[in-house]
Amino acid sequence: MNLKNDLLLKALRGEDIERVPVWMMRQAGRYLPEYIKIREKYSFFERCQTPELAAEITIQPIDIIGVDAAILFSDILVVPQAMGLEVQLIESKGPYLPNPIKTKKDFERIRVPEIDETLFYVMDAIKLIKERLDNRVPLIGFAGAPWTILCYMVQGKGSKTFDEAKAFCYQEPVLANQLLQMITDTTIAYLKAQIEAGVDTVQIFDSWGGLLSKADFELFSLPYIEQIVTAIKSKAPTIVFAKGAWSSLDTLSKTGAAALGLDWCITAPMARQFAGSNITLQGNFDPAKLLSPIPTIVKETETMLKAFGKRNYIANLGHGILPNVPVDHAKAFVNTVKNFDYSKLA
Ligand code: CP3
Repeated sequence: MNLKNDLLLKALRGEDIERVPVWMMRQAGRYLPEYIKIREKYSFFERCQTPELAAEITIQPIDIIGVDAAILFSDILVVPQAMGLEVQLIESKGPYLPNPIKTKKDFERIRVPEIDETLFYVMDAIKLIKERLDNRVPLIGFAGAPWTILCYMVQGKGSKTFDEAKAFCYQEPVLANQLLQMITDTTIAYLKAQIEAGVDTVQIFDSWGGLLSKADFELFSLPYIEQIVTAIKSKAPTIVFAKGAWSSLDTLSKTGAAALGLDWCITAPMARQFAGSNITLQGNFDPAKLLSPIPTIVKETETMLKAFGKRNYIANLGHGILPNVPVDHAKAFVNTVKNFDYSKLA
């Protein structure tokens, strides 16, 4: 089973490659008219739970945009759902968990679930996607980092500050660590099952890692990420994207992760200095910059490629693509990475 395009996996292993691989976080989503069509007919969790729909949505950006990897269409919030919490997705508002975790008593409502009994539909989707991809590009699996999942399980909805989640950690550190450990155990079993079903690599999304100080990140996020990376290291390479947590790139680089994701608020030389010379870096184009005129997108993408260099690098956005990005603009970003003259780079 040889992949026709394995640039991403080579970059994750730090191998010398002819050109930089490119994919976009949230590449399967609302900026694609083909996705919107499916969205009109089925609810969000119907789309996640129906392997046929998840497979079709996952493959759309491969066919339409020409990215070098597919990322499973699902959501990080299927984990709290499997643990026993109700999760709703409210149109134009985002996730809503009507009964969040606030006290020790609330732990009676959650558990570390059997993955086969709860998230089997994800593994069914992965098998179908692998079949349909027919080895064209690698498939990325994913999960949320335990800290980011705790944010939603405690706060109950999106937030700019996640103050209630932080208050829970600061007031009840023992309970918080217990919850983080339950999420970690679930996530390890879940990612192992994804790898078993066929994903080639996994990304851990710590979207809210940057809300914590370095000291608190090292208490409430890093140890759990490290447990996950260690548990799956012999099975697949891991990409860790801890948005905004640039002050922990040094410790994150020692977790055993193959790559670290970056947002656009850090420069390539700074990230390289903090993360060291061996690990692969991924990022970090400002998603809103895709709203610029195409010539600007081309110029700034080239600037990014020159700053990171060819080796140990995966081109990506610094966070998920925005729903109002024109498809042509996303294509311009991807094509600039694919057509760049890498002989110019060290
Ligand atoms: O990257 C991909 O293309 C794969 C699919 C994917 C989704 N969610 C689909 C989705 C991935 C990797 C995620 C991860 C995710 N989900 C994260 C981490 C990444 C990040 O963006 O920080 C987070 C924090 C969530 C939780 C979540 N799910 C939020 C906050 C929202 C609402 C905001 C939004 O973007 O709409 C969702 C819903 C969601 N997940 C959508 C999609 C395509 C939009 C649903 C729709 O079509 O209406």
